[in-house]
Amino acid sequence: MEITNVSEYDAIAKQKLPKMVYDYYASGAEDQWTLAENRNAFSRILFRPRILIDVSKIDMTTTVLGFKISMPIMIAPTAMQKMAHPEGEYATARAASAAGTIMTLSSWATSSVEEVASTGPGIRFFQLYVYKDRHVVAQLVRRAERAGFKAIALTVDTPRLGRREADIKNRFTLPPFLTLKNFEGLDLGKMDKSNDSGLASYVAGQIDRSLSWKDVKWLQTITKLPILVKGVLTAEDARLAVQAGAAGIIVSNHGARQLDYVPATILALEEVVKAAQGRVPVFLDGGVRRGTDVFKALALGASGIFIGRPVVFSLAAEGEVGVRKVLQMLREEFELTMALSGCRSLNEITRNHIVTDWDLPH
Ligand code: FNR
Repeated sequence: MEITNVSEYDAIAKQKLPKMVYDYYASGAEDQWTLAENRNAFSRILFRPRILIDVSKIDMTTTVLGFKISMPIMIAPTAMQKMAHPEGEYATARAASAAGTIMTLSSWATSSVEEVASTGPGIRFFQLYVYKDRHVVAQLVRRAERAGFKAIALTVDTPRLGRREADIKNRFTLPPFLTLKNFEGLDLGKMDKSNDSGLASYVAGQIDRSLSWKDVKWLQTITKLPILVKGVLTAEDARLAVQAGAAGIIVSNHGARQLDYVPATILALEEVVKAAQGRVPVFLDGGVRRGTDVFKALALGASGIFIGRPVVFSLAAEGEVGVRKVLQMLREEFELTMALSGCRSLNEITRNHIVTDWDLPH
C-alpha cells in the first residue's frame, strides 16, 4: 500500500527490524512521558490562516549558518544507522543531498566522517560527543573539518545515558559485524555486551561527565567550525550558550531519550527564542512528523527543524528511497501548509499565524 505520511514508516520498521534494534530506535526514557508529549504538544497549537493571498509561488529556501538549503527541514544525528539498512549513513547522506538539505552525522555513526564525505557533495554537520580522552575529541574534530563538515553540533544533554528500559531488557549492544566507525582506529569502536544496556555502559566508561561551559570555549580553541549547542531547554541556558560563543542553539530533549518529564520541545521553544534575542538562530528537534509541525515551530521562532526517528524508520523500510520520500513528504506538506496559511516565504510566517492554548484566556 502506498505510504502517504512520515509516521507510517514506524510500523513498517517495527515489522522489519530485529526487536533489539527497533526498540533502540523507538524508545524514550523511563515512563516515556516526554516521548508522547513531544508529539501531543503540537496539538496545543492551532492555525490562524490568512486568506486571499496570492500563493501561486511558494519559496521554502533558507540559509543556515550561511549555507543555502531548499527548506528548513534537516536531518538530526541518529546513531548506528547500519542497523537499519546496510547502506546506513551513506543512504541518509545521499538522500539529504538530493533534497538539498543538511545531514548531521552522529559521532556514533556506523560510517566514518571520511566515508560519508566520499558519497559526494552535500552540506553536512558533525554531532560531537565529548570523550574523557580529549585527544580523541581533538582528532575527530580535525577529521570532520578535513572531510568538509561545516559545523559541530555539540550534544550537551548526555553526561550519562538516559534510562531506556527496553535497551536494558534487551541487553542492547551494537551487532558484532558493525563498529562505531569514527572510533575504530582508536580502539573505541566496539561496544561490549553488558548486564545493562551496552550503550549505557559504553557512555559511562568513555563520555566525559564533567563537561561544562568552559569546554564549549575549549572546543572553539581547537576548531574554526561554528558550534551549535544541542539540547537546550531553558532561557537560562540559552543565554549562557550565546555568552559561550555558540553559533546557534538546538532546542532538543534528545528525542525524549534522556531526562523524562522535560517538556515537549515545541513548548520549550518560545522561551529559548526570546532569551536568544535574535543573536543566534534557534532550531528545534523532537516529534516533528508533519509539515504543519514545521510551520508551527517556525511561527514560534525556530529557524529550522531536524528530524530523527523518521530517518531510521524509513531507512529500515526502503533505504535511501525511504529517506528521500520522508524528506519529500515533509516538504510537500510544509509547502501546502504555507499556501493554506497565506505565507509565500519563510519570513512571512509569523506568531500571528498560530494560536496556542497558553495564549487563550482561561
Ligand atoms: C538519537 N539522537 C541522538 N542525538 C545525538 O546528539 N547523537 C546521537 O548519536 C543520537 N542518536 C540517536 C539515535 C536514535 C535512534 C534516536 C531516535 C535519537 C537524538 C536526535 O538527534 C534527535 O534529538 C531526536 O531524534 C529528535 O526527535 P525525533 O525526531 O526522533 O522525535
